[in-house]
Amino acid sequence: MPQQERPPLVDDDTLDELEREWFGRVHGRVLEIGAGEGENFGALALDVVWTGLEPDAERRAELAIRAREWGHEQPPLAASAERIPVPDGAFDAVIASYVFCTVPDPAAALAELRRVLVPGGRLVVAEHVGAPQGTAKRAVQRIATPCSVRWCHGCHLDRDTERAIANAGFLAEEVRRVRARSFPLGALPILLYEGVSPA
Ligand SMILES: C[S@@+](CC[C@H](N)C(=O)[O-])C[C@H]1O[C@@H](n2cnc3c(N)ncnc32)[C@H](O)[C@@H]1O
Repeated sequence: MPQQERPPLVDDDTLDELEREWFGRVHGRVLEIGAGEGENFGALALDVVWTGLEPDAERRAELAIRAREWGHEQPPLAASAERIPVPDGAFDAVIASYVFCTVPDPAAALAELRRVLVPGGRLVVAEHVGAPQGTAKRAVQRIATPCSVRWCHGCHLDRDTERAIANAGFLAEEVRRVRARSFPLGALPILLYEGVSPA
């Protein structure tokens, strides 16, 4: 990719602000998949009725505590995004931050998200993603991914999450791409995506 087409490099504070702005957009019944230890609570609008999903028991325990502190009464679901134990159309929006790099089967997870969203429901994500195909960065990511999967909790550095979301049938409404400093591989491409599940 020519230098001038590269997404802007942002610092950690700017990325935090972008994420807060992105996740502040959702309203109503919101499912957060791979919610970790609840990093996004501060970004959510006051009208959000939050349901968390977190397969890791230790993180889920911490998440449950933080959820209660933020006034979200429902205990997080012990489940994976590929199999969500709720009826069809249960949510107005789904959010995810830095989850699709780790999910073992992104296509299955995205099909589940379509199922649990109401028609027209929103998908809002912030994810680190693969660099453009054919770039040196992408080659490095491909080589490094077996190590990151092994030692960084299943994290794939080279996922085409934007394409996977489109392949699942979501319609993009706003997409922003930036790069964030990271160690040891240098700037990491970040995808900020907002789209809808078609009616
Ligand atoms: C890098 S952490 C991000 C946590 C949190 N979203 C954040 O931004 O701090 C990835 C999270 O995805 C969760 N995860 C892994 N596999 C998953 C799956 N199949 N479905 C849902 N979440 C999953 C992990 O347990 C972990 O909490």
